[in-house]
Amino acid sequence: MEREIRPEELSENVFDLIGNQWLLVAANDGEKTNAMTASWGSLGVMWGKPSAFLVIRPQRYTKEFLDRAQTFSLSILPGEKRELLNYMGTVSGRDEDKMAKSGLTERLVEGAPVFAESRLTLVCRKQFAGPMEESSFLDPSVVEKWYPQKDFHILYIGRIEKVIVND
Ligand SMILES: Cc1cc2nc3c(=O)[nH]c(=O)nc-3n(C[C@H](O)[C@H](O)[C@H](O)COP(=O)(O)O)c2cc1C
Repeated sequence: MEREIRPEELSENVFDLIGNQWLLVAANDGEKTNAMTASWGSLGVMWGKPSAFLVIRPQRYTKEFLDRAQTFSLSILPGEKRELLNYMGTVSGRDEDKMAKSGLTERLVEGAPVFAESRLTLVCRKQFAGPMEESSFLDPSVVEKWYPQKDFHILYIGRIEKVIVND
C-alpha cells in the first residue's frame, strides 16, 4: 500500500540506504525521463528544511534532465532490483532507452518521476546546483584518487517535498 510520511518519520539508516541499497536518481524535463544509480549523497537539513544532497558528474546524461527540471526523485528499489540498478548505473541513457528497458512503471508527482516499483521515494525540489571546484579540495589525494579526469562532481541540493512509502 502506498502512503506518504513526513521526512522526520524516516527511520532507516541513511548510510545503508544510500551506500548499500543505492538510489535511483530520476528527473523529467517535461518530455522525457532519465534515471541513473547513485551511491553517494546524503540526507539532512539545509536552510531549515529536510533536504537531499547529490553529487553528479558532468558527463551524466541524467545531469541534463536535472538541470532542466525543477524537481527530481530519489527511489529506493527493493533488493530484487539490484540487477536493474547495476544496469541503470553502467549504461547511459544517451546510448539506450534505459527507461523503456527498465520496465519501471512511471508517473509524475510534482513533475518528478515516481515509480510504482519503488519501496521508498523522495520527491525533491531543486534548491542549489553548483560545481565542486578543484581549488576547494583540501586533500590532494582525494583529487588524485577520484578525479584523474578532472570531472569534478556537481553538487545538487533538493528540498524534500514528499516521502512516499510503498509497503
Ligand atoms: C553503484 C553505483 C553508484 C553510482 N553513483 C554515482 C553517483 O553518486 N554520482 C554519479 O555521477 N554517478 C554515479 N554512478 C554512475 C552512473 O550511475 C552511471 O554513469 C550511469 O550510467 C549514468 O547514466 P546516464 O548517462 O544515463 O545519466 C554510479 C554507478 C553505480 C553502479
